[in-house]
Amino acid sequence: MRAVAVKELGAGPEVTDVVRPEPVGNEVLVRVEAAGLNPLDWRIADGMLKGTRAYTFPMTMGVDFAGYVEDTGPDARRFRIGDPVYGQVVDPGRGGTYAEYVVVPDDGAIAPSPSSVPHDVSAGVPTAGMTARGIVGAAALREYESVLVVGAAGGVGTFLTQLAAAHGLRVVAATHGNDQRRMGTFGAALTVNSREHPLTERVRDEYPGGVDALVDLASGPEEFAAHARLVRNGGVAVSTRFAADPEALYAAGVEGINFSLDASAELLDALAREIDSGALIVPVEARVPLDEAPDAVARNRSGGARGKTVITL
Ligand SMILES: NC(=O)c1ccc[n+]([C@@H]2O[C@H](COP(=O)([O-])OP(=O)(O)OC[C@H]3O[C@@H](n4cnc5c(N)ncnc54)[C@H](OP(=O)(O)O)[C@@H]3O)[C@@H](O)[C@H]2O)c1
Repeated sequence: MRAVAVKELGAGPEVTDVVRPEPVGNEVLVRVEAAGLNPLDWRIADGMLKGTRAYTFPMTMGVDFAGYVEDTGPDARRFRIGDPVYGQVVDPGRGGTYAEYVVVPDDGAIAPSPSSVPHDVSAGVPTAGMTARGIVGAAALREYESVLVVGAAGGVGTFLTQLAAAHGLRVVAATHGNDQRRMGTFGAALTVNSREHPLTERVRDEYPGGVDALVDLASGPEEFAAHARLVRNGGVAVSTRFAADPEALYAAGVEGINFSLDASAELLDALAREIDSGALIVPVEARVPLDEAPDAVARNRSGGARGKTVITL
């Protein structure tokens, strides 16, 4: 089958032929219609999971998928052949989702796809949508009134802005561009282009006593610590880049969280309900065919992501 894979850790992705996987045990074989692109994809290809997960080469890239169940293993119970499904599978040993087929354990992060949108939209949801939803829960954002989102224009940030605004929070979106209009349509009350306006000054002007919450999707430890100083005593500061120092933050009266996604069918079901009710817009900004996936990965590495890129098969 056709796939985009790397020959070794750190190698560039190539369009190639790989062996189609067969479902065993409780696995289902999904015919992939579309695969969402995430920074996680190239981080895994660079060796992020080395030492914790088995890798097999050539390693097909990708973790997010949407498509149809093509076949089921003997112990798979949750799905039937032909079911439309979407989800996330992280398995550099068995292969990823930038491929015509992928196998997924039926007790993993796989669920019926949202019924109101096509697969090339659903595929943009799993990792970024689950992360945003997971952060809302882990940081108890519902209990707060204001949140500063750094890196707000990308995949996770666009979902998070919508979810936080829907819970009544005032969202300050920090981006690296002129994204005021776009972020406003997703519910941001204020968008700061931090390339043009120093972020810390702008946020201090707006919130002299500090914001309630920070979700920083972009910064390393030093920059994260500077952003966390914008949070008021009793607030919360979340990093998806493992840049938070919870002890130092605790001493400053702020709860620090290094968020790690615990992907699940429950999160996917909740997102599908929100999408089907019209409450959540999937921010797909680009669709590329499989042949162009290597270029799309290179673009994501160099930054500037706006919403989601989806690879179509
Ligand atoms: N821990 C977890 O469980 C978990 C789960 C999902 C994602 N993540 C991580 O979270 C991060 C965000 O993921 P994503 O899917 O949203 O990535 P993405 O779609 O590539 O978006 C990242 C966004 O951040 C912007 N950005 C980078 N530095 C910035 C800064 N200093 N100020 C404002 N904006 C900035 C980028 O735009 P510019 O390049 O124009 O600045 C881009 O819009 C990634 O590092 C990803 O690996 C972690």
